[in-house]
Amino acid sequence: MKTVNVGILGFGTVGAGAVKLLLDNAEDIKQRVGAELRIKGIADLDTVTDRKIGYDVSGLLTGDALSLINDPDIHIIVETIGGVKPAESFVRAALGAGKSVVTANKMLIAKEGAGLMALAREKGADLLFEASVGGGIPSIDPIKNNLAANRINKIIGIVNGTTNYLLSEMKKGKNYSAALKEAQSLGYAEQDPTSDVEGFDSMYKLAILSRLCFNTEVCADDIYREGITSITDYDIKYANEMGYQIRLLAMAERTGGQIYAAVHPALVPDEHPIAGVDGVMNAVFLSSDGAGDTMYYGAGAGSLPAGSAIAGDVAEAARNILRGCRGAGAVACYNDIPVAPAESLVRRNYIRIIVRDEAGCIAAISGAFARYAVSLESIIQKNTKDGLAEVVWLTHAAEEERMRKALSEIEKIPLVDSIPSRIRVI
Ligand SMILES: NC(=O)c1ccc[n+]([C@@H]2O[C@H](COP(=O)([O-])OP(=O)(O)OC[C@H]3O[C@@H](n4cnc5c(N)ncnc54)[C@H](OP(=O)(O)O)[C@@H]3O)[C@@H](O)[C@H]2O)c1
Repeated sequence: MKTVNVGILGFGTVGAGAVKLLLDNAEDIKQRVGAELRIKGIADLDTVTDRKIGYDVSGLLTGDALSLINDPDIHIIVETIGGVKPAESFVRAALGAGKSVVTANKMLIAKEGAGLMALAREKGADLLFEASVGGGIPSIDPIKNNLAANRINKIIGIVNGTTNYLLSEMKKGKNYSAALKEAQSLGYAEQDPTSDVEGFDSMYKLAILSRLCFNTEVCADDIYREGITSITDYDIKYANEMGYQIRLLAMAERTGGQIYAAVHPALVPDEHPIAGVDGVMNAVFLSSDGAGDTMYYGAGAGSLPAGSAIAGDVAEAARNILRGCRGAGAVACYNDIPVAPAESLVRRNYIRIIVRDEAGCIAAISGAFARYAVSLESIIQKNTKDGLAEVVWLTHAAEEERMRKALSEIEKIPLVDSIPSRIRVI
């Protein structure tokens, strides 16, 4: 039986998970691929720490990533370092040398994916990145392969486990800071949680998914982004009472010759399949013309789940090497569909307004909504305290620009104290 040699760059959480699975299930993988997948070297800045994978791999460790990239016997390079520098230069060097590359790096693929894909195509190499979206969930492969005969029109993703965990804990009554502190102590949130809680991580993943689903270039910077830091436990409670869950959604839609792409918190009706995705779990929900609605669900992060996606891509890259068809699965952006500006996003809205408990206030607010053609679905008065009343409004779908103008007018109404929350509704 043949042997395909693999070099791993980055022996952290994901790299260690991938190595463990490639070793744990080596015999099965050999039979499934038709070749032995041999880890020939593992590069990390730290070659001392025991990664507790159950195997002594000390003889494979090196501090020099380039020594693996330049090794002519290594056919596949796994990049699990993260970030753009130096990961990008390593990936470029490996592809440039005609080696297939497997990566978990969403930031790199979202920012530099187009150029890296072109390089992979030119060199006849694979560039595979299943682990970059949804960790252990197969979401990229179904889009590329199983749904290849479909026109996918809509993506709704819960692709960040940290924020989903925080929102799930807040549903139990914790406030945002208590939930974040707990998530950090459990290792579900970074000490600097900005990338997760401000929606950057979801934005990178949505750029990758949108490109795959719509076959057009979608830059991360073109995606409207809003995080979860202004969501309160009150909003979660009120949303639940009205039959909704609050989730951080990564949503993209192809409609009217444009792509609408946005990351923001949203009220999701209880009956929608994505509303049941709790805790650190992730899901990608797709609407397409053939298969209809499909949803891919599972662990979005973690050493073994993300390692599983990496190891699966390594197996695919190895099969392609054996069949002599490397580079055939590259993502093609053959469409040129513009991404619509954020002002044109159309959504229903949940708005919580604190008003003086006086006659005429509701009429003044309704009048402002009406002036911008924002029609109202329901109004619920919640608490009244110290002469102030808390009123929750649900609007029908309205264009973002009209909604912003209406809210800025409402803020100026003397009887309005504040507008603590405005959350979109799907
Ligand atoms: N963690 C997850 O659950 C998960 C899930 C899906 C995707 N991802 C993605 O997977 C990638 C890796 O994430 P991770 O959580 O595994 O990160 P991690 O635990 O920090 O591992 C990265 C490793 O790369 C090492 N490294 C840094 N510079 C290097 C260099 N020049 N040469 C060789 N090794 C180098 C780091 O060493 P030092 O620590 O000494 O700097 C570290 O051990 C990221 O792109 C991330 O977005 C992560």
